[in-house]
Amino acid sequence: MKTIAKTDVKPIRILILELVKEGIATHTNEIVLNIQGLRRGVKPHSVRARLSEAVLKRELRRLKEGVYDIYREVEINSVVDYPQRGPWGDSQYRGNFSGFLVRDLFFQLKQKSVLDVFEGSGTTKDFFNGLKRAKEVTVDYVGLDLKKGFDVVSDKIEGKYDLIIAHFPYFNIIKYSENATDLSNCDDYSTFIRNIELAMRNIHSALADDGTIAVVIGDVRRNGRYYAIFNDIINMSVGVLRSVVIKKQNNCRSTGMNYRKNKYLIPIAHEYVLLFSKN
Ligand SMILES: C[S@@+](CC[C@H](N)C(=O)[O-])C[C@H]1O[C@@H](n2cnc3c(N)ncnc32)[C@H](O)[C@@H]1O
Repeated sequence: MKTIAKTDVKPIRILILELVKEGIATHTNEIVLNIQGLRRGVKPHSVRARLSEAVLKRELRRLKEGVYDIYREVEINSVVDYPQRGPWGDSQYRGNFSGFLVRDLFFQLKQKSVLDVFEGSGTTKDFFNGLKRAKEVTVDYVGLDLKKGFDVVSDKIEGKYDLIIAHFPYFNIIKYSENATDLSNCDDYSTFIRNIELAMRNIHSALADDGTIAVVIGDVRRNGRYYAIFNDIINMSVGVLRSVVIKKQNNCRSTGMNYRKNKYLIPIAHEYVLLFSKN
């Protein structure tokens, strides 16, 4: 049996916290070795089973003070990277974003009502439900999506919101449905951009006076040509541009391009978060 020197040993509590927060898989082995060091003869599978049970029964939430607090306020600058997506939304939903982005936007802007017009797998919704449970902070949240029967290009948005999150489809790279009004079904770039502009105007009309639109958008390449969608959105002159944040893309699937064939084909590994105010 492998043993670890006492000096290398991180406290079990820290290992568990890091495992839960960062999902560092190797920690499970370290936790097993730690526990075996304390109680000889304990079987690795028993430790793993108890860990999983504790996670499922949410017992580990009691440890959250200190290191493990995914709802803590973090200051950001204009470059963000979220290697972990957190427990919110569905990691299998293609093109989903990390709930840590929602957290950081929320704490940066501190707005009271939030609309996600492209709710997708519900990352934003889950984040605000969790924030209420963990910190007793209540935000009025509304989620829309074509999947829920709402077309952001042609259906009027009811009400006014302080923060509107718009995580647009990545042109036609990921198809979300067979629906003809699905933005991801638009194969012609100028039609796609025209529809985005209509969507942006619709979103802007639902923005409260002191509100913010947070657009999350990636650029694309088609037949070797680079389409800077973020630039086209800025040039629509919808709202006043207040901030541009570069967000590193993680876990995106390869586009199948042969990057060695063309010297300009540097793989795109970033996207943008654009913040617009009303006036
Ligand atoms: C990039 S995904 C959003 C993912 C989401 N942020 C998440 O974490 O799961 C884009 C979403 O746009 C939706 N969509 C596409 N066309 C739409 C339209 N015309 N109106 C409203 N939603 C649309 C798709 O159904 C998809 O869920």
